Amino acid sequence: MDSKDKGLFSMHSGNGPLSYVKNSSYQGGVLEAAKAIIEEEIATRLEIPNNSCLCVAEFGCSTGNNSFPAMQTIIEAIKYKYQSSNLKTPEFYVCFNDVVSNDFNTLFSSLPLDRSYEVAAVPGDFHGRLLPPSSVHFAYSSWALQWLTEVPKAAEGLKSPAWSGREREEVYDAYLGQFERDIESFLKCRAVEMVDGGIMALLIPGIPDLWDPQKESTVVSRVELLRSSLVDMAKMGRLSVAKSRIFNLPYYFPTADELRAILQKSNIFSIERMEILKCGTFLNIDGHVACLRAVHQNMLAHKFGAETIDETFDLLKKKFYASPVYADPSKDKTIMIVAILKHNNV
Ligand SMILES: C[S@@+](CC[C@H](N)C(=O)[O-])C[C@H]1O[C@@H](n2cnc3c(N)ncnc32)[C@H](O)[C@@H]1O
Repeated sequence: MDSKDKGLFSMHSGNGPLSYVKNSSYQGGVLEAAKAIIEEEIATRLEIPNNSCLCVAEFGCSTGNNSFPAMQTIIEAIKYKYQSSNLKTPEFYVCFNDVVSNDFNTLFSSLPLDRSYEVAAVPGDFHGRLLPPSSVHFAYSSWALQWLTEVPKAAEGLKSPAWSGREREEVYDAYLGQFERDIESFLKCRAVEMVDGGIMALLIPGIPDLWDPQKESTVVSRVELLRSSLVDMAKMGRLSVAKSRIFNLPYYFPTADELRAILQKSNIFSIERMEILKCGTFLNIDGHVACLRAVHQNMLAHKFGAETIDETFDLLKKKFYASPVYADPSKDKTIMIVAILKHNNV
């Protein structure tokens, strides 16, 4: 496939695929698929610290729905490691991080009653320092690192969506560059906060090296559909043409090879394992529209006005129904990249 046909977030192909290992459904199911990997890595790679208290930190926890089972998996696996070595189980603390506007009240009021850990909220941008030095034994982040700190400057002011090939390449490079800088900032801060020998599990949504947008879909094509709904809304005079032209979304979905190349540059963290999970959503069209609305509604209302939201998402739904690609969930080729890193600052 010509790279120019792949859409803004997916224009380069990488150097050879990793193996696909498991099926998973949307977000929550990804944890199910990643669970075995995390358990194995804790069993084989986590160095048992000589501490009476262990800290697990989750970066980008939202209101906890998917975080709680993830924390349970991690803590049970660590406990098992202590018990099978006949060691006294330590106390556990979980630091739940998200942006300051996150609904931490909902998170705290829905904490599992049978949990075996104490909790703390750590509000703030995970691209900056959040926790004390050498305090975190296991760091976890799922479906959050695709968010960028800003839309790259090169993407602003272009005549979306009819960019010339050259402009598209520039925009692509700018997005990838921003993603790389953001991942680097994230790792730099965690390098200070984590103990030597600590393990990090990153679950990042991405796209395969190659996919055919005529016959298959990914999270990128669904976002492109939203973008084209906004452009149509502008053409119909329902929202500002000027604003729709400069509207770009602050996230990037990497290929596994792109992510690996970025992670490999760290001189503190080593990549211990990288796997690709099939992340087909198994959502029907109404489910996709509801998901896109949940993620983007506030952002779009802020930019274009709350009165435009219903019509934009009605239009989006029509676009979904007009394309045979979205009728069959098995055609969703979105992936979840699981990267297990180890802190090696010795
Ligand atoms: C899609 S949710 C994922 C929630 C959960 N981890 C999961 O796997 O379902 C992404 C979360 O990352 C948070 N997030 C995005 N950028 C962030 C940042 N720079 N610092 C902290 N949290 C961030 C968002 O606020 C959001 O709650």
